[in-house]
Amino acid sequence: MTTWRYIPDDWLTPLDPAAVFGEPGRFEVDLGCGKGRFLLARAEHHPGTRLLGIDRMLKRIRKIDNKLNARGIANVRLLRIEAYYAVTYLMPKDAVSTCYLFFPDPWPKKKHHGNRLFNERFLDGLERMLSPGGVLHVATDHLPYFEDIRGILSQRDRLTESKPFVPAESEQTDFERWYLGKKEIGRCSFTLRD
Ligand SMILES: C[S@@+](CC[C@H](N)C(=O)[O-])C[C@H]1O[C@@H](n2cnc3c(N)ncnc32)[C@H](O)[C@@H]1O
Repeated sequence: MTTWRYIPDDWLTPLDPAAVFGEPGRFEVDLGCGKGRFLLARAEHHPGTRLLGIDRMLKRIRKIDNKLNARGIANVRLLRIEAYYAVTYLMPKDAVSTCYLFFPDPWPKKKHHGNRLFNERFLDGLERMLSPGGVLHVATDHLPYFEDIRGILSQRDRLTESKPFVPAESEQTDFERWYLGKKEIGRCSFTLRD
């Protein structure tokens, strides 16, 4: 089995989920999928859902690919790429039912805040790829960043806050498992208006 490819053939044309997955179904994206614990569990629990894992670290993407092959999971594809570029240029419009963004790098020092993923331009891309009624789920252990994220999302005209997503124990991410019981975790979810 091949898990598609890590790097797109065409850097300028949005990918076509039907061509990439070859099957119809919900289309979900795990942005910054890390070592893939959530991605793999979610895919196994929802075989009819097509999941795309995106991360900029090649080593992590390769490890997930090995696990996909070992576990025979067929409904996941992987992209090794910068998340901002992916949502802005590579994701098709109105296509994604759910986007998971768990434990984004917080860049805690003020002088590094410019490196954070959440900003207006990133959210323009993210809203574009979500289908109407599509949902974004966010979680982070860094509470000041959580407040910033929630504040930015609350001000978007097309987003409405909805019930936060709490993953089942079997679908907790690696970072969530690391922080659970040690640190408070901020969670929020926002739905794109029809
Ligand atoms: C703190 S880890 C969290 C991983 C996973 N979501 C979890 O909860 O266990 C953040 C992940 O996002 C990836 N990442 C951070 N910034 C990124 C960006 N701008 N584009 C793509 N991946 C990014 C990192 O390589 C890392 O794997």
